[in-house]
Amino acid sequence: MDDIITTHRLTKTYGSRTVVDDLDLRVPRGSVYGFLGPNGSGKSTTMKMLLSLVRPSRGQIHLFGRPMNRDTRPDLLRKVGSLIEAPPGYAHLTGRENMAIVQRMLGLDDRQISRAVSTVRLQEHMTKPVRAYSLGMKQRLGIAMALAREPRLLVLDEPTNGLDPAGIEEIRELLVSLAANGTTVMVSSHLLDEIDRTASVLGILGRGRLIFQGTRAELFDRSLPDLLVDTPEPERALALGVPAVRAERGIRLSGFDDEDTAALVRRLVEGGVPIHGVRRVQQTLEEVFMDLTGREGLV
Ligand SMILES: Nc1ncnc2c1ncn2[C@@H]1O[C@H](COP(=O)(O)OP(=O)(O)OP(=O)(O)O)[C@@H](O)[C@H]1O
Ligand SMILES: [Mg+2]
Repeated sequence: MDDIITTHRLTKTYGSRTVVDDLDLRVPRGSVYGFLGPNGSGKSTTMKMLLSLVRPSRGQIHLFGRPMNRDTRPDLLRKVGSLIEAPPGYAHLTGRENMAIVQRMLGLDDRQISRAVSTVRLQEHMTKPVRAYSLGMKQRLGIAMALAREPRLLVLDEPTNGLDPAGIEEIRELLVSLAANGTTVMVSSHLLDEIDRTASVLGILGRGRLIFQGTRAELFDRSLPDLLVDTPEPERALALGVPAVRAERGIRLSGFDDEDTAALVRRLVEGGVPIHGVRRVQQTLEEVFMDLTGREGLV
């Protein structure tokens, strides 16, 4: 059993609206699973179902290879740490006092608490009230609270939300090092580039449906890199009616496979366009995502 989370046809409807639609998730052990999708695509609802905070309308969830049901739930969720939406913690209490509450609630020892605090590098700030924390420090405290129980699975909903680039980088490094030490991490974001290099596996949601699941390499394999045609006369190329946009040294085209490219070059040459070079440029994850969601099809 090498998947830490699997779902089968997981669905949530509110009234007549289906907000999470037939999801078959596979989150491999030891991965950082980047759960991506635009605002309102169903990421938080899915994570809440995984954590039993929202009841699924249909479908099944397995955690650690065991089915989630009334009998298994307490035992399964004991091994899961989570941070959903706003960072938790009482603002008028210090970091230390907040961690002490977690310690008492979960019956943890001092070593577990100090380890969680040092993992997120908050040791020096534990005597400050949380209201005096920066947003990044609050997020880190939330992650420390989730980590204290030494979970096998960490579920984080937009932990980089509102952070500056340095704060985002810090969280990324933390997630990668947690995964390297055996904790499986599922992390959501609506900003695709935030997760880009951190995640070993990606799940991409669009309107409640899983439109892609797999590695970054698999995602890029499914996309055709853009084509750049270097020419000093881009206007002449555009006048031929090719579906291109102006680029720095010529024109740029999307979705051209090898055959399309050969036909394009022939057409440009016959139209008298001087061609200095033709190259492929890898799209960003953002561009691939737009392609996928724009095409609407299921991959
Ligand atoms: N309790 C609820 N009742 C009715 N509709 C809901 C409820 N909770 C969420 N929704 C709707 O479900 C859809 C998915 O919401 P969800 O919060 O899961 O999206 P998300 O991907 O987390 O978005 P964001 O990036 O903004 O956090 C949205 O259209 C939302 O309005
Ligand atoms: Mg959300």
